[in-house]
Amino acid sequence: MHVAVFDTHGYERGTLEMAAAERGHKLTFFEERLRPETALLASGHEAVCVFVNDTLDRHTLEIIAAEGVELIALRCAGFNNVDLAAAAQNNLKVVRVPEYSPYAVAEHTLALLLALNRRIHRAYNRSRDRNFSLEGLVGSDMHGKTVGVIGTGKIGAIFGRIAHGLGCRILAYDVRPNEELIAQTGAQYATLPDLLAASDILSLHVPLMEATHHIINEEAIRQMKRGAYLVNTSRGGLVDAQALIEGLKSGQVGAAGLDVYEEEADVFFEDHSDDVLQDDILARLLTFPNVIITSHQAFLTTEALSNIADTTMANLSAKEKGEPLTNEVSA
Ligand code: NAI
Repeated sequence: MHVAVFDTHGYERGTLEMAAAERGHKLTFFEERLRPETALLASGHEAVCVFVNDTLDRHTLEIIAAEGVELIALRCAGFNNVDLAAAAQNNLKVVRVPEYSPYAVAEHTLALLLALNRRIHRAYNRSRDRNFSLEGLVGSDMHGKTVGVIGTGKIGAIFGRIAHGLGCRILAYDVRPNEELIAQTGAQYATLPDLLAASDILSLHVPLMEATHHIINEEAIRQMKRGAYLVNTSRGGLVDAQALIEGLKSGQVGAAGLDVYEEEADVFFEDHSDDVLQDDILARLLTFPNVIITSHQAFLTTEALSNIADTTMANLSAKEKGEPLTNEVSA
């Protein structure tokens, strides 16, 4: 298949090229994101391959469908950036990579949590400046803490098991309880307000959808245990960032580890070190000593990149051969 690959970066090209060669697909790489203004680049390709911050709204989909594209291959799990109804109306099939390395994301969640708790980001900067003072670096034992896992699917369950391994008590919230997680960790399911009130650490692992948009808002932050830590490696839209800022200022939120941010599409994945940051909310978040922000890198392991490439190419081959699209998403 001829595939227009959008929003490509150096770290993934080699892996994608290798997997494509194995299955005979021809890739054209574009650094641009797919959006209405760049959609004509898809001309002459049967498929587009996109990532989390491409804009697959009705307008884009109508343009690529008119250019002969038949398949949208997401090289990610989340599909909140695709207008699925418009895709169906334009005869565009949508496939994704449902799982590439839930371990990568769960382990990055742990990395953010431990770094925040033990002030690793601050200690690292200090010792590079030969400041070996310990003032302000007091953390707390993870052992015995209550960790509230919001969303106990693949990633949330792995994170729950990791936290259980540290000696934490696991509270969980999900529309579907995960029996395996209960058996393995003794996790207890609770209502969201009960979980918020009892957790020392909150970790978000639900997908972004209408029901979960701003699941952590002003009210949720008010319900939280004072000083609780919040880690979000799922999607930025789960957290009302302005409410989080107020929570951090008042001390209601003890610390925040964010791998995702609602308005990340304008800044993440690119080097803006020479630019004046225009996003005042992000700029404010970056001023807190108890906030760590990473730019949507939780998935970024060699294992995950290789799984993404393999599944994406298998998805393309299935479409090409008219086989069932096992990884299809539809409205
Ligand atoms: P999953 O589908 O295995 O688990 C999601 C869980 O959320 C399910 O157990 C489901 O029942 C639950 N859920 C759905 N709607 C809910 C609601 N309204 N209330 C409560 N629970 C609800 O997904 P997985 O693989 O664990 O991924 C979770 C999220 O992680 C993805 O949706 C994606 O947004 C994010 N992600 C982030 C990455 C990163 O690099 N930062 C990489 C990969 C995924």
